[in-house]
Amino acid sequence: MDFSLSEEHIMIRDAARNFAQTELLPGVIERDENQKFPAEQVKKMGELGFLGMMVDPKYGGGGMDTISYVLAMEEISKIDASASVVMSVNNSLVCWGLEKYGSEEQKQKYLVPLATGEIIGAFCLSEPEAGSDATSQQTTAVDKGDYYLVNGTKNWITNGGNASVYLIIAQTDVAKGHKGINALIIEKGAEGFVVGPKENKLGIRGSDTHSLLFTDVKVPKENRIGADGFGFTFAMKTLAGGRIGIAAQALGIASGAYELALKYSKERKAFGKEISQHQAIAFKLADMATQIEAARHMCMKAAWDKDQHLNYDLSGAMAKLFAAETAMNVSVEAVQVHGGYGFVKEYHVERLMRDAKITQIYEGTSEIQKIVISRSILRD
Ligand code: CAA
Repeated sequence: MDFSLSEEHIMIRDAARNFAQTELLPGVIERDENQKFPAEQVKKMGELGFLGMMVDPKYGGGGMDTISYVLAMEEISKIDASASVVMSVNNSLVCWGLEKYGSEEQKQKYLVPLATGEIIGAFCLSEPEAGSDATSQQTTAVDKGDYYLVNGTKNWITNGGNASVYLIIAQTDVAKGHKGINALIIEKGAEGFVVGPKENKLGIRGSDTHSLLFTDVKVPKENRIGADGFGFTFAMKTLAGGRIGIAAQALGIASGAYELALKYSKERKAFGKEISQHQAIAFKLADMATQIEAARHMCMKAAWDKDQHLNYDLSGAMAKLFAAETAMNVSVEAVQVHGGYGFVKEYHVERLMRDAKITQIYEGTSEIQKIVISRSILRD
């Protein structure tokens, strides 16, 4: 078993680290404070190939593996989780789903600009009454012959305001339950499609999260992804890979908070020595480092499973569950190590702690991951 990274992996990790330090760190506190979408930075991420990392180069992507994606996600999330969620949704939920299940026409029309970062996309599953219980979709896509008529509301949609392309999960035939659900591509500006107000959030405040309202929106049949009734499977398959991206985001938040705590503990003196020399702090650092190491191995294992074309439902859910808990634990401890300084914005750890919370909620709460994991281990 070889745990070492290839030269190419190291190059990608270092490029992401450098980008995060030079382009994301300046202004990250202000963007969080003012809920400002990192538009310029996202544009540069596209130019550097971070928005379509795993997409085949023939569709404008980087043709990289999932390990590379995890490495880049970790580095970018250490500094700015608001930017990394844009990256995660675009790569995992939008580009991956379109490349895997879209028609050639859909790939040419939508995947190419999405993979090159010319535009960004959104994945729209959650609803006011259907977050975890994803089969209970209330948004309808009524079959009208050569088009679908879409009505309903989607909630908490990442990239909701800035996306140009939206993948919508909607119910076509209620009698068929989850087998009556379709995934449709809707473009911004479609008649009857309105972007609702931006949410004022606890964390990832730079990312734009909106509700979306659809009133009699006509969606041509050629914008359906896959066969009729494939929408729920499409959503589940897409989310399974998305969980690896969010696990890597959580890993990045944890390692970012830990690195800040380690640095601070070596600088700050109390009772005549650096606080890292007090066992109370040293043991915290040991626990943080150990949890992060475990989370990193789990993220890499899930990414490796995906790259080897093995089933990654279980390893992805486990990685997401553990990395999210790690992000929360480690960021809380990083604030504690900083004492009073940890409670003010300039030291970054309070933001990382707020950002950590969403990793336990989106792309399936920690409880949803436990459903996926327990069903899997009880089935085997
Ligand atoms: N791959 C393929 N098919 C799958 C699957 C997978 N990973 N998981 C489930 N399915 C299939 C099942 O096989 C089943 O099909 P059959 O009846 O044909 O066998 C069907 O889907 C229904 O499955 P379940 O009976 O297991 O469904 P359930 O209602 O009990 O719930 C669940 C399953 C795992 C809890 C699912 O509802 C789920 O994942 N919920 C969470 C949804 C979620 O992550 N929401 C977050 C929104 S997206 C987001 O946050 C994006 C963002 O902006 C950042």
